[in-house]
Amino acid sequence: MRNQLLKELTPRWILFLIETFFLVFAFWSAIYLSNRLSISLSTLWVYKYAFIVNTIIGVAGMLIFHTFSGIVRFSGIRDITRVVSFSLFQLVSWLIITSLTVSTGLFEQVRLELLLINCFLVTFLFTGFRIFVREVFQISGNFHKSKQRKRRIMIYGAGDIGLATKKALEIDQDTKMQIIGFIDDSMSKQGKSLDGIKIFSPELAFRKLMAHHKVDEMILAVHNLPSERKERLFEFCSSRGVKVTIIPPLQEWINGIFRINQLKELTIESLLERDEISIDNISAKRTYNEAVMLVTGAAGSIGSEICRQLLKYPVVQLVLLDQAESALHDLKLELESMNKQVDICVEVASVRDKYRIEGIFDRYRPNFVFHAAAYKHVPIMEYFPSESVLTNVKGTRVVADAALKYEVQKFIMVSTDKAVNPTNIMGACKRVAEMYIQSLSDRSSTTKFITTRFGNVLGSNGSVVPLFKKQILQGGPVTVTHPDVTRYFMTIPEACRLVLEASVMGQGGDIFVFDMGKPVKIIDLARKMIRLAGYTPGKDMEIKFTGLRPGEKMYEELFKESEKLLATHHPLIMKAKKISINQEWLETEINDLLDAALQHKQQRIRQLIKGLLPEYQEHVLEA
Ligand SMILES: NC(=O)c1ccc[n+]([C@@H]2O[C@H](COP(=O)([O-])OP(=O)(O)OC[C@H]3O[C@@H](n4cnc5c(N)ncnc54)[C@H](O)[C@@H]3O)[C@@H](O)[C@H]2O)c1
Repeated sequence: MRNQLLKELTPRWILFLIETFFLVFAFWSAIYLSNRLSISLSTLWVYKYAFIVNTIIGVAGMLIFHTFSGIVRFSGIRDITRVVSFSLFQLVSWLIITSLTVSTGLFEQVRLELLLINCFLVTFLFTGFRIFVREVFQISGNFHKSKQRKRRIMIYGAGDIGLATKKALEIDQDTKMQIIGFIDDSMSKQGKSLDGIKIFSPELAFRKLMAHHKVDEMILAVHNLPSERKERLFEFCSSRGVKVTIIPPLQEWINGIFRINQLKELTIESLLERDEISIDNISAKRTYNEAVMLVTGAAGSIGSEICRQLLKYPVVQLVLLDQAESALHDLKLELESMNKQVDICVEVASVRDKYRIEGIFDRYRPNFVFHAAAYKHVPIMEYFPSESVLTNVKGTRVVADAALKYEVQKFIMVSTDKAVNPTNIMGACKRVAEMYIQSLSDRSSTTKFITTRFGNVLGSNGSVVPLFKKQILQGGPVTVTHPDVTRYFMTIPEACRLVLEASVMGQGGDIFVFDMGKPVKIIDLARKMIRLAGYTPGKDMEIKFTGLRPGEKMYEELFKESEKLLATHHPLIMKAKKISINQEWLETEINDLLDAALQHKQQRIRQLIKGLLPEYQEHVLEA
């Protein structure tokens, strides 16, 4: 510990001694120069008190302005400003001293000319030394690097971000990279140079450069690159063994400066995400202004992201409700570090517990409720129908009833595409919950009940992306249920942005269905993820087919034929047309279902669900 401390302090003391030497040397040189380059020992003796005073002022100034702090080889503008302030301090101190002692004649030989020369020399020596050390390190670093094999880099994007990337590569002492060229889509830039490096058109770069020169890495130095373009670049590069990295968004740069260790690997999320989804922020700000928000299932993938996004709006209180206490605690800490203005409260509770939930509503009186608590794992829940009913049907009923009782403004239920023509218990329970919400909406004059329905989100707990990542890390095989199986995908932030938008636009009784883009073949997803990890699918990483699991469909549907989709003002949000539901019948059926679930009568549950949902088909295919 002591040694470590000494090690850290030593260079500072060395620099302090060097600067003290410069201080004395500068003053001596100033005397010499101001005496027209002739000075004898006896003349020097006249300056003895001036030397002492100069050293005292100088050392005090060095301590005040910390001229000797900072790492010399990384000196920058801030260090130079410190040195200039220090020498001005020295000059001003001397001017005050000489004017105060003018009657005594003690420092009459310390003339303005000498002080100005001294000020100049101190600035020159202090800054010159720093620049010298910095250059020596740079040259020795470059020499060291030149002896090692350099990674050959192409930078995609010859704009400000591309230039910042080049600078970051040059500054970083440890990077062994050589920039081969820039690539830019803009014809006005092609053929020209940026900071001495040639700019190529994508066609030329791909046809000639990448084919003939060995390129190791392509850095995407553009923001908002259309995902289709990103995907094509990735396909091209990965098939030629070229690694693709991406610059982080501007808000992640440290003090507006990008450092090379912030370069990100291209992820499957960034490959599949769609072009930025914009939402009506002005309306959202107005709607959520000073609101109390309650999010159930807050610790989950969807719930936690809804919470993160809500913090961007002027809400006053955010209540996080979940039964997973550790994850809730972690989320609370994360959210508090993001926004200190919003009061973030945690409630460990089960949505199945009516009295507990009513207590929470009574305490916080939320204005908006986002209901994302659920059991959502399809194959697992096939084996536990009663648990699925109790959480997904009863839990939703408990929270929705409380919303009605406590006159919540809007209740937004997060549903799933698996609720459409369900082939599994989980999806069927979500559909029953949707129906209950709709019937409640027909009865409510105060609370607006809104349902949002969408397909798989990338990377959520227990989903295919984390599973594939784990399998790839373990060296494979990557397991796919069926070669033709497809799924819709959205990133979690995209889906949650649309949930918020739907919550603003919903007027009660709506089922909003999100445009999920094109369905993705799971086998293609697996291949892309294998290539992203630097392997070749089928060659050095096997893909194994395991067969569809209980309750799984080959492809998901987002809406029922009978629902008919209507457009909304948002191009990615559609509204399913209402189907009328007999409320009394629904109430009786749900009560019977909950009774069966409380008694864990699994077969009876399946029968009752078939009665409620004629479209429900048990297990399309067996495992
Ligand atoms: N993940 C997806 O791909 C996806 C896609 C579309 C819709 N959805 C829907 O979004 C909802 C949330 O999914 P997710 O991916 O965030 O799941 P998740 O498993 O990550 O989160 C669910 C959360 O609910 C909590 N929870 C479960 N039972 C509870 C109870 N009785 N009381 C309180 N909290 C309870 C869990 O602790 C968990 O934190 C589900 O309804 C799901 O169907 C998910």
